[in-house]
Amino acid sequence: MSRTDHHDRRQPQPYRPYRWPKKPDGHSGGIWFGGDYNPDQWPEQVWAEDVALMKRAGVTMVTLGIFSWARLEPSDGVWDFGWLDRVVALLGEAGIAVDMASATATAPYWLYQAHPEVLPVEADGTLVHPGTRQSWRPTSPVFRRYALRLCRVMGEHFCDNPTVVAWHVGNEYGWNNAADYSQDALQAFQGWCRRRYGNIEELNQAWGNDFWSQRLQNFDQVPLPEHAGVRDAFINPALRLDFRRFCSDALMDFYCAERDQLQELTPDKPLTTNFMVSTDQCVLDYERWSHQVDFVANDHYFAHGPGHLDELLCSDSLVDAYAQGHPWCLMEHSTSAVNWRNFNASKRQGELIRDALAHVAMGADAVNFFQWRQSAFGAEAFHSAMIPHAGPDSAIYAQVADLGSILRTLSSSGLAGTQLEPSSIALLFDADCQWSMADSTLPDCSLDHWQQVYIWYQALLDAGYRADVMPLKGQWERYDVVVLPALILLDQKQADRLRDYVSGGGRLVVDFASGIMDDHMHVGLGGYPAVLRDLTGIDSQEMIALGTSDQGGGSILVSEGIEGRIWVNEPLRVEDSVRVLARYQGRRSYDLDMAGKPAVTIHGYGQGCVLYLGTGFTKESLVSVINRIVPSDFLTGAAGAGLHNGCDGDPRLVHLIRSGPQGRYHFYFNRGSTVVRDVSTMGEALVIQRALRCGGGGLSGNRYTIEVHGVVVTRQ
Ligand code: GAL
Repeated sequence: MSRTDHHDRRQPQPYRPYRWPKKPDGHSGGIWFGGDYNPDQWPEQVWAEDVALMKRAGVTMVTLGIFSWARLEPSDGVWDFGWLDRVVALLGEAGIAVDMASATATAPYWLYQAHPEVLPVEADGTLVHPGTRQSWRPTSPVFRRYALRLCRVMGEHFCDNPTVVAWHVGNEYGWNNAADYSQDALQAFQGWCRRRYGNIEELNQAWGNDFWSQRLQNFDQVPLPEHAGVRDAFINPALRLDFRRFCSDALMDFYCAERDQLQELTPDKPLTTNFMVSTDQCVLDYERWSHQVDFVANDHYFAHGPGHLDELLCSDSLVDAYAQGHPWCLMEHSTSAVNWRNFNASKRQGELIRDALAHVAMGADAVNFFQWRQSAFGAEAFHSAMIPHAGPDSAIYAQVADLGSILRTLSSSGLAGTQLEPSSIALLFDADCQWSMADSTLPDCSLDHWQQVYIWYQALLDAGYRADVMPLKGQWERYDVVVLPALILLDQKQADRLRDYVSGGGRLVVDFASGIMDDHMHVGLGGYPAVLRDLTGIDSQEMIALGTSDQGGGSILVSEGIEGRIWVNEPLRVEDSVRVLARYQGRRSYDLDMAGKPAVTIHGYGQGCVLYLGTGFTKESLVSVINRIVPSDFLTGAAGAGLHNGCDGDPRLVHLIRSGPQGRYHFYFNRGSTVVRDVSTMGEALVIQRALRCGGGGLSGNRYTIEVHGVVVTRQ
C-alpha cells in the first residue's frame, strides 16, 4: 500500500473540499441527467443518432469509457484515442458534458496474459480468471503500474478538453474483487497490521490470539483468513474482521492512487467513484471512502416489491449522510429490470419517474441510468436501459424524455444545490458491525445489522415518522432521538459519545444485540449489553437465540400482536430507576423462563433517557411497539411536534423537503398500495405525476389525490 497513508485508522480523516461538476462554460449544470454510455459496443453510424436522441430526451451528461481499456490500449503501450475523441467531440458539439472514466475497471486480456500475477486469488487458493470484470488485485504493484499509466495517459489526453467535466475513477470498486487472498494481499495485509498495531503483542491482544494457539511472534507470521477446512467458519473472527477492513482500505488506497494521478494532470476537474449503497450491498466501508471523493456518487438498484420506495429512501438517506448534506450524484439506477437477480422484475407503471424523483428528493443533483442503449450482446443484454432493444419508439424512451423535461423544470426552478432537511431521528449504521455479522460464530446467523436499520426505517415510516440513517462515526449528536439497530459492535469511544449524548438530554434506543462486543469482537464482560449497561439500567445474564419454527424455535410473545424474534436477552438485574413498558408472556416465554421479565424498558440517564428493546421485532411488531408501547413523547419530544413525517402523520405518504436560499421544495410520495386522497401540500406545484389537483389554492396550498407511485413536487 502506498506510503501516503491517508488511511491511518487511528487518525481522524479530513474530508476533501466539496467540488461538483460544472458545465463547460463554468455555469451550474442544474440537475445533471444521463447515464453510462458505451458507444464502443455500437457501430460509429449509431453515435450521431445517439446524440440526437440524448438531446431530445434532455440528457446533459454521460459517463464514457468505463470498460474501454482494451480499445484505448489495444496492446501494451499502444494507444488509440481516435474513436473516443470523435465521441467526445460529437457530445461536446451537442452541449452534453462527459464524466470520463479512468477506464481501469477492467483490464484487457493481453495484460492478464502477460501478467497473470495480477489476478486475484480466492480464499481456497483458486485463481480468479479473467472473463468478467475487475479481475485484478488492488495490491498488485504490476497492476498498479499499468493502471496508473492509463490514468496518466487519460489525464494528459483530456486535461484541456472542456467537455470532460468530471472523472469517474474505476467503477464500483469491490464488485468482483472485494477480497483477494494472493501473496500480494498477504504482504499488504501484514504491512497494514504493522501500521495499525505497531507491535505484535497489541495485535495478539486485539485478535485474542491466545485462543486456539494463534499467538504470533512477528508481523511476518500474520496470516490471511484463507480456507481452513470444513470448519472454515471458525477462523478467528477478529482476524476476519480486520481482513474486511483491510480489503476496503486496499481498494481505497488503489482508488486514491488513481485519483491522485488524474488530479495532478487535471486539477480543475472534480473526481469521484460510484459507491454501492443499495439493498444488501454494503461491500466497502463507505464512511471512510466518503472522505476521499470530491462529491459522493452512488449506484442504487431497486428491489422489486411493496417496500421498494422505502428501501430506496433508506439507502439514499445513508448516501446523503456520507455526502455531508452536499448534493450527490445518483450515478446508476435502472429504467426497469436488472439482469442479475434470480428473478428480474420490471418496474411498474410510474416507477421509473417516481424513483428518479425520490433520489432527487433525497439529495441527488444528478440522475443517471445504467445505461444509455440496451446492449445487443454480452452479459447485460437483458438489462434495461434508456433506449431499449425496441429503439426510441418505445414507452421507456418516452418516459426517459418525460423525466428529462421534469428535471429541466426542477433545474430552472432553482432546486439544484438545495439540501435535504434532516429529520430528528437518526438510525446508526456501521460497516464494521455489518461485517462482524457475516461471522457465523455468533448466536444466530440471521443477524443482519443493515437489515435491522431498514426494518427500523420502514417501521418508523409506517408509524408516521421519518428517520435519517447516519454512520456511527458521523455527527449524529444533533438528533433528538438516536437508534442503535442491532449495533452489536461498539468501541469505548463511541459508547462514551452515546453516554455524553444521553447525559446532555438525548433520547437513545438500544435495540436487542447492541453494544455486546468491542471493535475487535471481544465480548464486554459482566453482563449484556456490556458498555451500555449503565445507560439502559439493565444487566442481562444470558442471550437466548429464538430461531424459527423450522429450526425447532419460534418467536416470543410480548403483547397481543407483538412478538420478538431472533434472540432475547434474559435480564438479571433491572435498576429501580428503570420503568418497565412491556414484559414477556405466553407459552414460549414460560418454556424459556422469561415470563414476566422486562422486554421493553425506559431509563432516565442524566438529562436524557434510554429505551431498551430486549428482543428483535419484525417490522410489523416494531410498528406496534412504537404505536402502543413507546411513550408518545419519546419520539416526538415533550413539545409533541416536529418529528412526524409531515403529512399529518399519514403513513401512506412520505414528505421530504429540500431547502436553500432559493426556497423550500416539498416532495410528496404515495408509498402505499392504494390511492391517497385529499393530500394537502404547501406551495405551488412544479411536478404532478400520477396525481390530480382536487382543491385548495392560494396561500394554504393545494390538495391532491395521489395515485400509487405518484408524486407531487411543490415550491414554497
Ligand atoms: C453496476 C455496474 C454497471 C452495470 C450495472 C447493472 O454494478 O456498475 O456497469 O453492470 O451494475 O445493473
